[in-house]
Amino acid sequence: DIRQQFIDFFETKSHEFIRSSAVVPHDDPTLLFTNAGMNQFKPYFIGLQEPPTKRVVNSQKCIRVSGKHNDLEEVGVDDYHHTFFEMLGNWSFGDFYKKEAISWAWELLTEVWKLDKKRLWVTIYHEDDESGELWKEHSDIDPQRILKFGAKDNFWEMGETGPCGPCTEIHYYTGENIDDQSAEGVNLLAEYREIWNLVFIQYNRNKNGELNPLPKKHVDTGAGFERLVAILNGKSSNYETDLFIPILDEIVKITGKEILFEGGVPHRVIADHLRMLSFSIADGAMPGNEGRGYVLRRVLRRAARFGRKLEMKEPFLYKLVSILCQVMGEAFPEILDKKSHIEKVIEAEEKSFNDTLDRGLEMFDRVLNKIPKNGTIPGEDAFKLYDTY
Ligand code: ALA
Repeated sequence: DIRQQFIDFFETKSHEFIRSSAVVPHDDPTLLFTNAGMNQFKPYFIGLQEPPTKRVVNSQKCIRVSGKHNDLEEVGVDDYHHTFFEMLGNWSFGDFYKKEAISWAWELLTEVWKLDKKRLWVTIYHEDDESGELWKEHSDIDPQRILKFGAKDNFWEMGETGPCGPCTEIHYYTGENIDDQSAEGVNLLAEYREIWNLVFIQYNRNKNGELNPLPKKHVDTGAGFERLVAILNGKSSNYETDLFIPILDEIVKITGKEILFEGGVPHRVIADHLRMLSFSIADGAMPGNEGRGYVLRRVLRRAARFGRKLEMKEPFLYKLVSILCQVMGEAFPEILDKKSHIEKVIEAEEKSFNDTLDRGLEMFDRVLNKIPKNGTIPGEDAFKLYDTY
């Protein structure tokens, strides 16, 4: 419903709904995975193609595990980073600009979804006073909640090269006590969660790192769907929403280990990685030894290693594809079409990793038996364990 409400809202503002592109970009060598909603629109921003329409809205499947945007180490440890997530977005290709982007985002958040204004914060690029003024004129946010940050937080770029520009972000305080907030927490503490980024695309960064102004100015926005669902459901964790609960329940059922085990981290990592693997395989990626395939292999192995913490020594991740299809299949029918392919690829890869891991553990025992107590593992053996097993 929340996904649809976002789309409906922008349809009333004359946006056209466009389907999510694949998570595997087919014609952009600068990316291993689709990392933002704007990727499929890059040719319109840099003037290579004319857009068929000037305002669009969608929910884009995104993966952030490699390259400029990489959230892997946060996944499962915190409540709101994912390797795979959905980004709700709306775009203007040389049409409306800052004023509309800002006032519509505020309208949707505070009038349609009725988020508490006393929990919302806004950040702007330190050189972009215009956006600060527009927030004051076209929203009723308390001006003290408009904060300036530098390029790290408020100048958005999709990769080393490509379209980019200053951005204004909306953050939501998820903490228990509304009176505990302070500007210092924004962009620092986990309770202050970025929920929506409005980017004002006006440059293209070239291979030499130079910023070239674009002939037209564009809007590129991205709202974290899982984070919004959590907030609108009054939950502090994305994993406590109906996007994840059925998957976590299935993991408990299959492993026999309750979520309290190890603080729930293994369950969360497995649920997250299942989504990344299933959607990238559905869109044509395969585990392998290099590039994109190696990222898949590493993510699968990470999920399998967390499976070992739950004493799962046999392949089991592939058994979770069914429940994922139930949760996500209506919005993204491609995983229903490819279900049995996804299951087969994951099962085969799990099996081969389990065999490798078992041989590695045997070798580890042999190495330990060879050296005296409190001795040192020879570099050659350490390297072989790391590199091969
Ligand atoms: N492209 C912008 C982002 O990913 C909206 O944050």
